[in-house]
Amino acid sequence: MLKIGVIGGGKFGTNHLIAFSQLEKSGRAKLVALADLSPEILKTQQARFGVKTYSDHREMLAREELDGVTVATPDHAHRSVTLDALAAGKPVLVEKPLDTTVEGCQEIIAAARQNKCFLQVDFHKRYDPYHQETERLVREGNLGEIQYGYVHMEDRIEVPRDWFPGWAPKSSPAWFLGIHFYDLIRWIIKKEPVEVYATGTKRVLVKLGVDTYDSIQAKISFEGGASVSFDTSWITPDGFEAVVNQGFRLMGDRGVAEVDSQDRGMRTCLVGAGMQTHNLGFMVEKRDKWGKNFLAGYGIEAIADFVDNLEYLKSGGDPAALAGTITALGEDGLAATRMAAAVHESIKSGRPVNLKG
Ligand SMILES: NC(=O)c1ccc[n+]([C@@H]2O[C@H](COP(=O)([O-])OP(=O)(O)OC[C@H]3O[C@@H](n4cnc5c(N)ncnc54)[C@H](O)[C@@H]3O)[C@@H](O)[C@H]2O)c1
Repeated sequence: MLKIGVIGGGKFGTNHLIAFSQLEKSGRAKLVALADLSPEILKTQQARFGVKTYSDHREMLAREELDGVTVATPDHAHRSVTLDALAAGKPVLVEKPLDTTVEGCQEIIAAARQNKCFLQVDFHKRYDPYHQETERLVREGNLGEIQYGYVHMEDRIEVPRDWFPGWAPKSSPAWFLGIHFYDLIRWIIKKEPVEVYATGTKRVLVKLGVDTYDSIQAKISFEGGASVSFDTSWITPDGFEAVVNQGFRLMGDRGVAEVDSQDRGMRTCLVGAGMQTHNLGFMVEKRDKWGKNFLAGYGIEAIADFVDNLEYLKSGGDPAALAGTITALGEDGLAATRMAAAVHESIKSGRPVNLKG
């Protein structure tokens, strides 16, 4: 059974804890330990998952014999804790974005190479079956050469305002949302980005004391001529029917694909909750035949894929063979960060940024 330690047990880290604890039943993984700076988080998660807890991840790395470590700290803390995990010789799964600097990603990738450690990035949009089908259609040539595309990903304002106002100013709609689709489109069309032009607006969140962009629009050109617009924002009003609104379309020489990644066909209106749409593909609470609830969906599957990969590598699998598969490796994390960093650079300079250097 693979022993897993998690660093960062907040809102999204909880999904890591759920994913690994659910794999215990089948004997594939054991959630062993959690490191977090917050005593309240450690107390709550210890009570819920029965994990050993550490207030310092370095102590967890030194004391526990872990087969893999996952990182779900705020974006700006990924670099140092990931480097510590790699220095301890552990394979690591890092939440997106790998790091918010190109140099940070390069340092992490170099450390993984030096310590011969597997490095994976959690880009769960790749695991959405609708996105997988688009990837297949493009890969098999059904759409022909992609000419242009359009992406939107928008969070309700509660995300930067209420979920993590402390670190939202160190993030942005591009780092938090855009990065998902920068990676997804690159993975679907299998082309590298060549130029980025972006604009951004700061108005609403700044007035609420959260100094970051309300919205960012980026146009990214890829090798072969495809040009894709990415609209991202953090200011959808409180009454909107879902926390995340998202979708994309791609137009090629031979066809078009359109995906509504938010409205998957289920709506409810409950007293006090108003109209809601449910993206059950991402996460859905199911009940097994023994009456025990568990979470399924591509959000969980993407994290559990780390265990698949650890098993594959343990049985002698070639890590290089994972490149280009559904698993995002360190290099994919770097490519997405390059795009997001160029988006911010372009907003500041008012000019397109050339990525071909
Ligand atoms: N894959 C996705 O769709 C998705 C969605 C939301 C968030 N995320 C990513 O997950 C990560 C965590 O986001 P979140 O919403 O859970 O944030 P959060 O603020 O709810 O949780 C972060 C946790 O990390 C802890 N922490 C901070 N620094 C630490 C350190 N040095 N060592 C140990 N623990 C530390 C904090 O105490 C907190 O409990 C971010 O990188 C975010 O971008 C991914």
